[in-house]
This record gives sequence, C-alpha cells and structure tokens, in this order.
Amino acid sequence: MARISYVNGRYLHHAEAMVHVEDRGYQFADGIYEYVAFYNRTLLDGPLHWRRLELSLAALAIEKPVSMAALDIVVRELIERNGREHGGLYVQVTRGVARRDHPFPKQTKPALVMTICAPKFPKPQEISQGVKVITAADQRWTRRDIKSVSLLANVLAKQEASRNQAREAWLVEADGRISEGSVSNAYIVSKSGELITHPADTHILGGVTRDVVLRLARKAGIKVSERPFTLKEAQSAAEAFITSTSANVLPVVKIDDAPVGTGRLGDVTRTLQTLYATHIFKQTGFQF
Ligand code: PDD
Repeated sequence: MARISYVNGRYLHHAEAMVHVEDRGYQFADGIYEYVAFYNRTLLDGPLHWRRLELSLAALAIEKPVSMAALDIVVRELIERNGREHGGLYVQVTRGVARRDHPFPKQTKPALVMTICAPKFPKPQEISQGVKVITAADQRWTRRDIKSVSLLANVLAKQEASRNQAREAWLVEADGRISEGSVSNAYIVSKSGELITHPADTHILGGVTRDVVLRLARKAGIKVSERPFTLKEAQSAAEAFITSTSANVLPVVKIDDAPVGTGRLGDVTRTLQTLYATHIFKQTGFQF
C-alpha cells in the first residue's frame, strides 16, 4: 500500500507531501509536534498526547488548526489509508506560512502536517539485555516542557550517542543534574529500591510514557521520588532505564562505559516493563 501523508487538508502521496518554503516551522522552528504509537490501528494513550499537544499550542499562542474532534477523524482516516496495523503517527502544527518576519503574522492560518511511519519497536535484545547511554551537555532552551520542533540540541546529542554506539544521550545540566535523554525520559533506581526521575517541570519534556509508568509504579507499591539526580548518583544506582513512545521501558546497563549496578536488567525495571506491556495490551490488544 502507498504511503500517504496529510498536509493542510489534503491526503497526498508521501513523495509529494510538501510545505511552503516560508512555513514558519521551516524558517523559525515556530511549531510543535506529537509522536504517538498505534497498535492494531488504535492510538496508545491518545487523550494524553492530545492534551500535551493542546498545552504546547497554548504555550506558544498557536491556534488549533482544526477542532480536536476533526483531528481525531483525520488521524483515523490517515491510518486507514496507509493500511498499517502498527506504527507511529507524527503530527506537526506550525504557526503557518507568512513573509519572513520574526513577530507573529496577523492573518496566518496554522499549518497541520501528519505522517505515518513503520513501528520503531525496541529490539528484543535491547529489552532483555539493556542499552548503553552516554552523557552530553544539556544545551537546550529553558522551556523543554513544550514539545517544540526546535530540536537542534537534541539532534546534536543524539548524533553524539550514535557516534559512540549508544542508544541515547543523557543530558547533563550546568549544575551536574541529569534532566532527561535527548529523545526519552531518564530514571534511576537507588540501592534501597527508590525510583527517581526529574520532576515534570520546564527542565524536561513530561513524557506520556513517563506519566503512565509512574502511575503503574506507584500502584505496584514502588516508592517514586520526582526529583533531579546527578550523574554521580546514577553511577552508583542499582538500576537505570529510559522511557518514550518508541522505547517503551528500556533498561540502561551502561553509562559512559561504566556498568550500572550489576550491568544487567534489574527487578524494578523488569516489573515496569511487564506492567507497561500489559497497559499496551489492555488498550490496544497488542502483545509484544
Ligand atoms: N520523543 N523527552 C524528550 C526530549 C523526548 O523527545 C521524548 C519523546 C520524551 C518521551 O516522551 P513520550 O513518552 O511522550 O514519547 C522525553 C519522541 C518519541 C520523538 O521525538 O520522536
């Protein structure tokens, strides 16, 4: 089946899906996005993603391009037209097309683009044996809670990770605290079994997966502390892991070439992997 993308009201062959050169997303990164996984044609945690999309739009004073009800219809139609059972939905809204000038244009309509891609499931080996992360300076702006398309600092950090055969780069702030990963949230488990992750403030993107995993952890009786942790703490932790829409829950067994804990998948991480897989199954019927 052909790959079809959505651009401002039209369903187009992917190769012909274009936006104007003066789209403000292209020239100023003046836009936001969401990336949502779908299994059996059902969005995972759709309402949580749409709530974050609305918050990101509101934070940048970008109008909603269509109503949320209309968005829902387009998403269903797009998944249908692509004929995919499982995959990823990318949604981007920019302030629209206008003559290049920094202040907000007066009568510009926001632009809405959506694409569908193949699932980015983690590899079985990554799930069971864990992944390596490197550390990199957090060079981003101070509103990381907005899911902005301005991702240059994330791209540079992730490139550094790739160059070092690492799955992810953990971003270290000037004061030595780890905020999150370049494309995921970061967690450690202390030797006493406490799950620690940065609070969902303006220093990180509050992940949808993070919301769900913390809820599942609390329900399972795991002690959760939403506070920043340092690289030093991470180096002496019992376990570490990352979460995101495409990683789900992935154990981190190496930070900058030093093993975390035993260097193997730990009990808390394994429990959360199982609970999260059940969460996916209950919502979508998909079994890993
Ligand atoms: N990235 N932090 C950052 C910086 C991210 O880019 C992401 C997601 C997350 C996790 O958010 P969620 O659990 O809602 O996926 C945290 C997506 C997947 C991306 O950029 O494609």
